[in-house]
Amino acid sequence: MENKKILITGDRPTGKLHLGHYFGSLQNRVKMQKDYETYILIADVQALTDNFDDPDKVRANVKELALDYLSVGIDPKYSNIYLQSLIPETAELTVYYSNLVSVARLYRNPTTKFESLQKEKIFGSNAEGITYGFLGYPVSQAADITILDGDVVPVGEDQLPHIEQTREIVRKFNNIYGETFKEPDAVLSKNTRIKGLDGNAKMSKSLNNAIYLADTEEEVSKKIMGAVTDPNKIKKDDPANPDICMVYYYHNLISDKLDEDNNTTKYKDDLKTICSECKSGARGCVACKRELIEKMNIMLAPIRQRRKYYEEHPEEVEEIIKQGTANAKHKAEETMRRIRKNMKLDYFEK
Ligand code: TRP
Repeated sequence: MENKKILITGDRPTGKLHLGHYFGSLQNRVKMQKDYETYILIADVQALTDNFDDPDKVRANVKELALDYLSVGIDPKYSNIYLQSLIPETAELTVYYSNLVSVARLYRNPTTKFESLQKEKIFGSNAEGITYGFLGYPVSQAADITILDGDVVPVGEDQLPHIEQTREIVRKFNNIYGETFKEPDAVLSKNTRIKGLDGNAKMSKSLNNAIYLADTEEEVSKKIMGAVTDPNKIKKDDPANPDICMVYYYHNLISDKLDEDNNTTKYKDDLKTICSECKSGARGCVACKRELIEKMNIMLAPIRQRRKYYEEHPEEVEEIIKQGTANAKHKAEETMRRIRKNMKLDYFEK
């Protein structure tokens, strides 16, 4: 493990993960975990920045998030799943970093800007009541990454501004206090953004257009049956345009994934038939949806199986998080010693 580069990433425990998360980032983590020293963070502190009034929600979703991670194949043999709030060194580093970032720079971050405008209930209209904590969470995220000496950060594209912010902080810190950190790189997936069942450009919980990794076969079936298809196709044998059909879009996505998993081209070959049948009117939407449901369930089967195992073994999940947290904490303490030394704060150390 010693000479491997360090991978760090994570999610806020605020809800179940969906296919957008899976294709956007989780899949990449699963692939990369063996080649890196891997830390996957349950970002409960960050979740509180816009859920400070609902600690029960954050608490309940910690377990859900851990189950999502384990069910997609994040393997505790390779990966440390850990809790952000149990690494208080991160909070300390955030304070030091906060001197290196201007408030104007934080206001320019497109992701926090977008998110804060969507949270009228807590931040008021036009995010006028945005809190210091929410505005500053990218600074705390920079601390998450650097306290573990992260080299790579596999994330969805919405996180790129935060990684850029991290790199800026690192440069400034090194400049002032001497070479202390490396600049981490973001790693994007091939499919960075997954469309929703309704045709929206983004699958998202708030848009209610998502397929969750924890969905049952019945839920998946119901959702796909309601997915948006070419609106010009009225009758079963009308020709249609697959390019504007969500069912075809997911056929494409899942076929790619299944072929990759099984080292085949079978699904890709089927896809050509689906496409031409759709265009010629030889394929009805209902049959096409049924085929997609079947494929989706093939893809989700191993995920469901692992979830079931861990749901039935909660003590094992707890042990995994405890161990992962202990490993991350150990590393953070080491980094903190280096930081204090470089910042001339190592008062009584020999
Ligand atoms: N901002 C991430 C999200 O919205 C969560 C996160 C917190 C994170 N700290 C991180 C991601 C460090 C990567 C690295 O889900």
